Amino acid sequence: MINRIGIVGLGYVGLPLACAFASRSFKVTGLDTDLEKIELIKREEAPIYEEGLQDLLKKVLEEKSLKVTSSYKEMLEESDACFICVGTPSNPDGSVDLRYVKETIEMLGESYRRVDKYLLLVVRSTIPPGTTLNVIKKTLEEWSGKNIGEYGLCFNPEFLREGRALYDIFNPDRIIIGAIDEESGRILLDIYKRFHGISMPPVLITNPTNAELIKYVSNVFLATKISFINMISQLCQRIPNADVKVIAEGIGMDKRIGREFLNAGLGWGGSCFPKDVKAFLRFGEEIGLRLNLVESIIEINESQIENAVKLVEELVGRLDGKTISILGLAFKPGTDDVRESRSIRLVEELLKYNVEIKVHDPKALEKAKKILGDKVIYCRTIEECLTGSDLCILGTEWAEYKELRQETLKKYMRRPALLDCRRLYDPEEFREIKFSAIGLGPR
Ligand code: UGA
Repeated sequence: MINRIGIVGLGYVGLPLACAFASRSFKVTGLDTDLEKIELIKREEAPIYEEGLQDLLKKVLEEKSLKVTSSYKEMLEESDACFICVGTPSNPDGSVDLRYVKETIEMLGESYRRVDKYLLLVVRSTIPPGTTLNVIKKTLEEWSGKNIGEYGLCFNPEFLREGRALYDIFNPDRIIIGAIDEESGRILLDIYKRFHGISMPPVLITNPTNAELIKYVSNVFLATKISFINMISQLCQRIPNADVKVIAEGIGMDKRIGREFLNAGLGWGGSCFPKDVKAFLRFGEEIGLRLNLVESIIEINESQIENAVKLVEELVGRLDGKTISILGLAFKPGTDDVRESRSIRLVEELLKYNVEIKVHDPKALEKAKKILGDKVIYCRTIEECLTGSDLCILGTEWAEYKELRQETLKKYMRRPALLDCRRLYDPEEFREIKFSAIGLGPR
């Protein structure tokens, strides 16, 4: 029975996972090569914003069920299963950069060579089909001198959403285990059975290649759903009285379709969908298959920015000399992450015109500064952001923006106008001012 777990890579996936295991009577050793991050965590400070994470981190550190280190030797000595959660960024051509995964396996293998025990290696980083067998297994065996049986190996994809990481770790829809042999699958299943207890979710055990594919295909399917509804949003904008939100509601009532991931908006962003969709397309090309549906969803995603700019022009006329307030810069609510944020893409597009842009976000201003620098004005309150402006654009649907009323816009803005790019508002509540929204036909 494995009770000691090592986690390599304490980012958006690894840190919540480490805290979750530590909170359910596992002894966890987290490893990261970023010393600054390790120091922060040791001071009980979560290096990222994630709901509930700060409190849980403090608790498990105080209880001593979680410790962190930058030493592979120490992590290996104190764990019998090791979860790899390092990043897999994109190469310029869209393919997956496996550098961090390879480096991790090499360093782990080198330390493991000197240790005589069974270790279960569990890869959670998103990797292209075939990588567990062709890269991970080979690299580990080369550096550790051990063979399957002396160690175990599974690819175990992660389906957590940023901003809801802890909730998703504690309540997953399913667990997919891509096991290299029966023993590896059995041990990982046992770890999850103890972690979830009576609320154990459904499990699918398969080979590593299928598990790797399931991860990509899940994300590509969800991105397809969003692009589909975004295509319909562009259609609705041309049909008097049509509203994509009602269409989504109506089709979503069919259980075979489902309502989730049918929210029209600026498109899909974040650290996963854009990267994974492009990598999947590249993967198809490499094996001689043109995935034309995937090409189309990327195209639709891009066109939603142009679509928003068109709506801006229809609403306020020429952009020259205008002041625009942007509410929300995070790639979605509930996170401070701005990677591939669609709202920031829209800001960049608007900056091509002679405009002044004021921005607000409850959590992501610091991270946004690193991208937008001094090209925009950063505001600490919504009112400050609205003051003297000619147009307010909702870019990320944070719950606190839902409270916005037309009276507030009238009070602070030079010329009150609102463009809802995330369909947060009821158009009826803004009928006294200029109002437009993605997917809303002319009335
Ligand atoms: C996504 C998946 O949902 C997770 O299951 C997966 O584990 C994760 O990627 C990953 O591969 O690591 P995440 O990127 O955190 O999670 O965010 P989502 O909530 O899926 O949103 C992604 C993007 O789609 C955001 O920009 C969001 O605004 C957009 N979106 C989402 C829409 O435009 N409409 C929707 O209806 C839903």
